[in-house]
Amino acid sequence: MDVKELSKWTDEQVFAKTGQHLDSLQKSILESVLQRQNFHKIAGNNGYSYDHVKKEGAKLWKLLSDVFSEEIEQKNVRSILENKAGSTIYSFGDSSLIISNHNINKNHINICRENSQYLEDIETRSRSTQYENKSSIIELTKAPEFNYTYGRNSEISTLKEWILENQTRLIIIYGLSGIGKTALTLKLISEINTQFDYIIYRSLEDLPKLINLKDELKQFFSQSHATLLPEIIDYFRSSRCLVILDDVQNIFNPGNLAGQYLTEYKDYSKFFQQIATLSHQSSLILISWEKPGEIEALEKENKYTRSLQLQGLGEEAKEILRQKDLQDEEKWDELITLYQSHPAWLNIISSTIIELFNGRVSLFLTDKNEFFLGDIETYLESHLERLSELEKNAINWLSHQDEPIDISQKTANMEVSQAKLMHIIQSLTRRCLVEKVPRKELAKFQLNSIFKAHINSNFAVKKYP
Ligand SMILES: Nc1ncnc2c1ncn2[C@@H]1O[C@H](COP(=O)(O)OP(=O)(O)O)[C@@H](O)[C@H]1O
Ligand SMILES: [Mg+2]
Repeated sequence: MDVKELSKWTDEQVFAKTGQHLDSLQKSILESVLQRQNFHKIAGNNGYSYDHVKKEGAKLWKLLSDVFSEEIEQKNVRSILENKAGSTIYSFGDSSLIISNHNINKNHINICRENSQYLEDIETRSRSTQYENKSSIIELTKAPEFNYTYGRNSEISTLKEWILENQTRLIIIYGLSGIGKTALTLKLISEINTQFDYIIYRSLEDLPKLINLKDELKQFFSQSHATLLPEIIDYFRSSRCLVILDDVQNIFNPGNLAGQYLTEYKDYSKFFQQIATLSHQSSLILISWEKPGEIEALEKENKYTRSLQLQGLGEEAKEILRQKDLQDEEKWDELITLYQSHPAWLNIISSTIIELFNGRVSLFLTDKNEFFLGDIETYLESHLERLSELEKNAINWLSHQDEPIDISQKTANMEVSQAKLMHIIQSLTRRCLVEKVPRKELAKFQLNSIFKAHINSNFAVKKYP
């Protein structure tokens, strides 16, 4: 690739957005600036006055700012376009070359960067994973980094089977916050990246409108396509793409039952359904605190949709305690069971044990009557704040039950119809706050014990609702 190709790529983006191509002077200004020429030189080369070139340049930066939704000026146009196109220009005197990242990366992996300062980090990260001899374009700059990801072998092999063997198109990984959904998915990516042409991670934390998200994805996918394709599904058909959308709960309406879309985000539901039902060769992974009902329905009728409820780490959680240098190893099982081998909760509790007991787990566990929650409560609150009024009532009621409940029985103290109660329990289960207790004949339900402890300990001061 050379400067002409970056200019051509830019022109395609402009055309896709505005329906008009750059004119010859605009192209000439762009290419000259990409080669670090100043306006005097451009004017001389093109036979225009300096003022005219400067005026046209200002118009061009305004046009590009609109097209790329970023403030573009003469001084930053090169770095922004490089980033958007996922390529780097290396200057050799007056002529410039654009070297796509896979040429500079011995592992044949193209890593797109939001900002060139991340280049070193990401290339280091890419080298640390085992890549095969295949070229993939990977955009992970918006993903968090984790120092350790222990275990999760069975979840990874399930996901690999779904994605690589069964060509599953839509996967939702759901579970409590901090349970390790993002960490698991990034570990999965490091193991399967060579199987894809494109991999992109995007969080929905900042609530992107679907149309903007689609534009972003299209720009990413169009890096090695000569022209922009009309729909995401077209890229999903023509290449093997893996898209990860994290923090999907943000587009669900708090105060409603689980998984109900915010009004302006209802189009996401249709988009997810399309990905599941239309034929293509790609996969979309959704990561969420809540499982929407329509994905549950899709899962039943469409073999290309799957869901994975993520639970604690089990035995592997011991690695967290080991890494924190906790003592009294014979007490670790008890600690892990109490905190459900939930990695984020165990990280918090381990820090408390170090702070207050110099790492002595047995001293921390002396009081059998009261659950210590400390900073975990912030995590719990963020879940409880999202509940509907009816769910809050049910949670209060469940926090007083000593035994798992049978929802087919008429429930005293719960002033709702049985049908309503079923709906509420279903929603609380989709939020992972209520658990189904495995019984042979009859399903019973109970509130997660950490939430129960939290609600009971706060009951005197704070009541839900
Ligand atoms: N498998 C794991 N091994 C060690 N630590 C983990 C693991 N999974 C998650 N964690 C830790 O728990 C915290 C929460 O993980 P994260 O993936 O962000 O959770 P989620 O995406 O479900 O909210 C992170 O600090 C991470 O380091
Ligand atoms: Mg996460």
